[in-house]
Amino acid sequence: MSKKLFIETLGCAMNSRDTEHMIAELSEKEGYETTTDFKEADLILINTCSVREKPVHKLFSELGVFNKNKKEGAKIGVCGCTASHLGKEIIKKAPFVSFVLGARNVSKITEVLHKDKAVEIDINYDESEFAFKDFRSSPYKAYINISMGCDKSCTFCIVPKTRGEEISIPDRLIIQEAQRAVERGAKEIFLLGQNVNNYGRRFSGEHEKINFTELLRRLSKVEGLERIRFTSPHPFHMDDEFLEEFASNPKICKSMHMPLQSGSTKILKDMKRGYSKEWFLNRVEKLRSIAPEATISTDIIVAFPGESNEDFEETIDVMKKVRFDQIFSFKYSPRPLTEAEKFENVVDPAVASERLSYLQALQQQIIDEKNASRIGEVHTVYFEELNADGYVSGRSDNNLMIKVKGSEELLGTFADVKIIQANRTIFTGEILA
Ligand code: SAH
Ligand code: F3S
Repeated sequence: MSKKLFIETLGCAMNSRDTEHMIAELSEKEGYETTTDFKEADLILINTCSVREKPVHKLFSELGVFNKNKKEGAKIGVCGCTASHLGKEIIKKAPFVSFVLGARNVSKITEVLHKDKAVEIDINYDESEFAFKDFRSSPYKAYINISMGCDKSCTFCIVPKTRGEEISIPDRLIIQEAQRAVERGAKEIFLLGQNVNNYGRRFSGEHEKINFTELLRRLSKVEGLERIRFTSPHPFHMDDEFLEEFASNPKICKSMHMPLQSGSTKILKDMKRGYSKEWFLNRVEKLRSIAPEATISTDIIVAFPGESNEDFEETIDVMKKVRFDQIFSFKYSPRPLTEAEKFENVVDPAVASERLSYLQALQQQIIDEKNASRIGEVHTVYFEELNADGYVSGRSDNNLMIKVKGSEELLGTFADVKIIQANRTIFTGEILA
């Protein structure tokens, strides 16, 4: 009988891809099969996130629950960004944990499995050319890493301390991975990196210096590949050449994530983001002028240390000017190993909550207005998911989530769909005959 593996994945898309890599390694080399019931698992993994404080607290309570209810003899491993930054502290606090594996050490999963109390958390470990075994949770869409780590030093962000310095993966390997995914039926790839449009700055070996724009051009030639998405680009690196390639290349899906963080140039400076409010607005304007159909999403942090009412108003001003299609908004959370952790002028938590609610209410209003105006629009949808209620859902080129009545034969196919109804998270449509 095969051994059973349970993995819980927290955090970002990069963590989801790391989870796929670990599943691939463990099933091919160790004969594990995944299960959704941790009580029958021989190995329980938590792939953690440390970007904000909440998930870290959750980790230890969850570990306790796993330990109490796990199958006799089952191992528990902690992986991901919290593993990178807490290291052996995790085993000290939760001595029943068998191993700790950092976000930059995923390829060592089958090694640590056989060493009791192993702690592998070297953030400079180079996995950029490691030949991971293949596993994908969706047959329709393939996540592909193009770089690891991050070379920026945003003062609020722990990621460079958990995922290390930025190294790009050679384009040859990325293209091969895309080709393999297409051969197995995927029509869409999703390129991943903390800072995708900084691609090519550094490779681990000798390599032709190509940038992200050139990588996109090369990937769009992969036969059978229909759609290319990526996350996250950085506003600082959004030069004209990149935006023009984005706009003119029909394989690149027209949805751009532009993480703003703050609309105040002063706060952006304190965050070390490398751009001003004006630059951000200028990039949005350029993008909208050449790709008016593109949707734009963003990340915003409220109540960064020193954020005054006027600074917050600048963020609101950008929101009103840009009218983002989606916003991921967070209250600033001080993180260990970051510069901002030591900043004074901490914003009162009640004010922080107020600002977040105000921002989210405004965004909701914008979304409701935008969504209502989309009724009647026709989009090409790539169907990826069977819903429980007799619907099948997928995404439009510009990343709207749309569902239609239908069954599994729609999965993995494209169809033109007319939007007939909008609610806050998903549109309902009808396939045009
Ligand atoms: N390079 C990635 C950033 C990863 S972190 C990207 O651009 O997507 C994802 C988001 O979490 C950031 O964009 C930021 O908005 C938020 N975030 C990061 N650190 C944070 C902190 N200390 N407090 C609150 N939000 C934070
Ligand atoms: Fe974090 Fe800034 Fe890099 S948000 S991941 S340090 S671009």
